[in-house]
Amino acid sequence: MSNQRLAMLTGGGDCPGLNPVIRAITRRALQEGFEVLGIRNGWKGMIEKNYVPLDRAAVAGTVHRGGTILGTSRTNPRKIPGAVEKIFANFKDLRLDVLIAIGGDDTLGVAYDLYTKGLATIGVPKTIDNDIPGTDYTFGFDTAVNIATEALDRLHTTAESHHRVLVVEMMGRHAGWITLHAGIAGGADYVLLPEFPKNMREVGEVLKKRHAAGRTFSTVAVAEGFKIEGEEVLQNQEKDAFGHVRLGGVGERVAKLLEKYTGFETRSVVLGHLQRGGTPTAYDRVLGTRYGLKAVDLAKKGLFGKMVALRGTEIVAVDLQSVTKSKVVTPELYADAQTFFG
Ligand code: F6P
Repeated sequence: MSNQRLAMLTGGGDCPGLNPVIRAITRRALQEGFEVLGIRNGWKGMIEKNYVPLDRAAVAGTVHRGGTILGTSRTNPRKIPGAVEKIFANFKDLRLDVLIAIGGDDTLGVAYDLYTKGLATIGVPKTIDNDIPGTDYTFGFDTAVNIATEALDRLHTTAESHHRVLVVEMMGRHAGWITLHAGIAGGADYVLLPEFPKNMREVGEVLKKRHAAGRTFSTVAVAEGFKIEGEEVLQNQEKDAFGHVRLGGVGERVAKLLEKYTGFETRSVVLGHLQRGGTPTAYDRVLGTRYGLKAVDLAKKGLFGKMVALRGTEIVAVDLQSVTKSKVVTPELYADAQTFFG
């Protein structure tokens, strides 16, 4: 039995499946003789030494719960003078042996940076966007795709009844994974992704052909990061600590242009944070659980600077460094979706 201390934090946008990860890390780490701490609110909690001891009771009844019981933030310690030093000092004060960071590219990017500076970190890839390289899937993605697919199914029937075009805006800044998968699963008649520029007049022509062939309605799935004439559509000019702008509104812009080019009555819907809220699917609960268990195995072996990942059906360890890039939709996958346009 070791007397080692393990801490974990959740950073960035919340995501269904975080609690199953926290629960699995806690249960396996306790079994392995670690003392377990939960750092509150991501890197912010590590800077402020804001933590809670985790035992079996603390994580009981959480496997089905959305969000994160530890709280989260988009705090970037690299942007706060003295914060990185504070993290090192707090790591020592708390007598930690390892810190598991559960997050997307931003949170894990910080974990990697700190690892290169000598901190014992391990990463667990989290994001509904599924854009982290090195892993086939991130947990949260399946839940988001299911929510977006259900939305498309529901909008399908109202579009059909009213003979309208319905444009559905989904999350995904640089990567259109949610939109691609939900678009295919929900039978969208056009899918617009950040990775693939499209001329709206041409999209309108495709819909016009569809309607001329006898269909009297269409659904269009668009990712929030899709660019209109090379420009992202922003909610405002503000940037977060990681330099991300707030996207939003592209669905309405697409709807206006399609109505103009086709003459069909068009409406738009923004799914927004609905895609991140609520209970995780069984798939995400199991994936999160397997990630959590593997992260503790790595901690036990002292394998720091690693990220747990899904490759095929296996959970493996890859270098945390892989998060410094972004995984985007390939032209081949987009071509598959294109088969069903119109
Ligand atoms: O990173 C995941 C994500 O869901 C992006 O797709 C989206 O742009 C962003 O979070 C929005 O999150 P928030 O409103 O919390 O900043």
